[in-house]
Amino acid sequence: MQAGTAQPAQRIGVPREVFPGEKRVATVPEVVEKLIKLGFKVSVESGAGDAANFSDDTYRAAGAEIVNGAAALWAGSDIVFKVRAPMSDEVALMREGGSLVSFIWPAQNPELMQQLAAKKATVLAIDALPRTLSRAQKMDALTSMAGVSGYRAVVEAANAFGRFFNGQITAAGKVPPAKVFIAGAGVAGLAAIGTAASLGAIVRANDTRAEVADQVVSLGGEFVKVDYEEEGSGGGGYAKVMSEGFQQAQREMYAKQAKEVDIIITTALIPGKPAPKLISAEMVRSMKPGSVIVDMAGEQGGNCELTEPGQAVVKHGVTIIGYTDLASRLSRQSSTLYATNLFRLAEELCKAKDGHAIVNMEDDAIRGLTVVKDGSITWPAPALKPAAAPAPKPAAAPVAEKKGGHGHGSSAPVPAKTLAIIFAVGALAFWFIGAYAPAAFLGHLTVFVLACFIGYMVVWNVTPALHTPLMSVTNAISSIIAIGALVQILPPEAGTGGRPDALIRWLAFAGIILTAVNMFGGFSVTRRMLAMFRK
Ligand code: NAI
Repeated sequence: MQAGTAQPAQRIGVPREVFPGEKRVATVPEVVEKLIKLGFKVSVESGAGDAANFSDDTYRAAGAEIVNGAAALWAGSDIVFKVRAPMSDEVALMREGGSLVSFIWPAQNPELMQQLAAKKATVLAIDALPRTLSRAQKMDALTSMAGVSGYRAVVEAANAFGRFFNGQITAAGKVPPAKVFIAGAGVAGLAAIGTAASLGAIVRANDTRAEVADQVVSLGGEFVKVDYEEEGSGGGGYAKVMSEGFQQAQREMYAKQAKEVDIIITTALIPGKPAPKLISAEMVRSMKPGSVIVDMAGEQGGNCELTEPGQAVVKHGVTIIGYTDLASRLSRQSSTLYATNLFRLAEELCKAKDGHAIVNMEDDAIRGLTVVKDGSITWPAPALKPAAAPAPKPAAAPVAEKKGGHGHGSSAPVPAKTLAIIFAVGALAFWFIGAYAPAAFLGHLTVFVLACFIGYMVVWNVTPALHTPLMSVTNAISSIIAIGALVQILPPEAGTGGRPDALIRWLAFAGIILTAVNMFGGFSVTRRMLAMFRK
């Protein structure tokens, strides 16, 4: 990927996925149009979108050129967008010095990395994105694919389960709601919790990272704690391997859940480690007949001892689903999300919108993604600097903070002499207003100045992350206008003057109803938003 002012626009090529059973495609017609607006030309291999229900014609209508055969597609593309890591045959088709964006999993595929380097390629592995960078979230395909998979895991469970998810009262009798237990509340787990809860099941979940408990509750689940004090966060939003004592206590809790629930969905994973074995054969045996286990961690060895990766099997009367292609089973949705993630990446690579991608190794997100650059292996990227920490303040800053009462502005401290002049002028202006302005104006001015001061102190001392809940609570407080309406509706002796006419009182009544919605709604939204910040 190179810059070049006089060069023609680069061509992005999207081949048909060749991995057996893979139904996703790396771009969709809607995104083709956006890529063309960025200045790129787009080629799509004939039939690439068939399995995801995107026909050649829809790509053509969006402005893509349809190319017959993988060889022609790879040879004619400056940058190839793919889903699965390329197979050796595909690397062989790649242009020397070409570029590739796809899942690569460099740690698991050292040979592939060597082959790509030998092609003098530039490779951006979408799985190597630094996920903790908030500005990189729009490109986070791991998250979007895990979200789709978590949803699909519930759909697979519902398909194999012989009962309703929600409780029902029918003429034929009462049906209790299904009980679903989710092990691991990361991206996939949270998506599964939300989906199962929305289908009406009773959902419980557990994770070693206590910080996810609120997220579980906010999605309609109940967080089940392990009766053992140990923090499970291992940094970067991932878990760590827990102590033997914790694991024992966790096994006991999981054994109890297995006897009670109808469906278990496991998503527990620690990056770079085999999946923890959370569901033993004994636990499977203890489940009710007709129960279902969906083990999402099949590819990493599975969270359940009896999982057969890629298969759905019935053991001891329990259906154990170990599919490793859950995202691909919802191919139209996952392709659309993946294509959007890649488009966001294309935007970052082509800020000039001139159809030329520039791999800027100074950019943390791009550096993290780039695993091979012009034939040199650049993986793993150096660890990110802790970005959130603010730059150290100059020595004079504490003095400025004391004077200003808050630390927002980064401007240099105002010299004492200037401050004295400002205060003197201000005092003189107040004296002048006090001496000559009418008394009523003075009252209003005092309230105004106090309101400005209090508003300033309140807003400026709130952390920026909490500004959204602050807005909603302010909105709720603004319903104070209800008092005006109340004054209008009150009988004359309690009000300020004569009885207002009926129309005004009805309008005041309507005003009270509307502001009540604003007030209670505002406070309730604020409470829910603040719950997301509470540990
Ligand atoms: P994630 O890293 O966001 O979530 C994993 C969660 O498991 C974390 O919250 C972690 O704290 C928790 N965890 C780790 N050890 C635990 C333990 N001993 N007990 C309880 N919780 C524990 O990962 P994500 O993206 O949600 O993916 C989850 C799993 O699903 C992974 O194994 C991933 O490879 C797999 N996956 C499978 C797909 C399929 O088609 N089968 C598709 C997408 C993801």
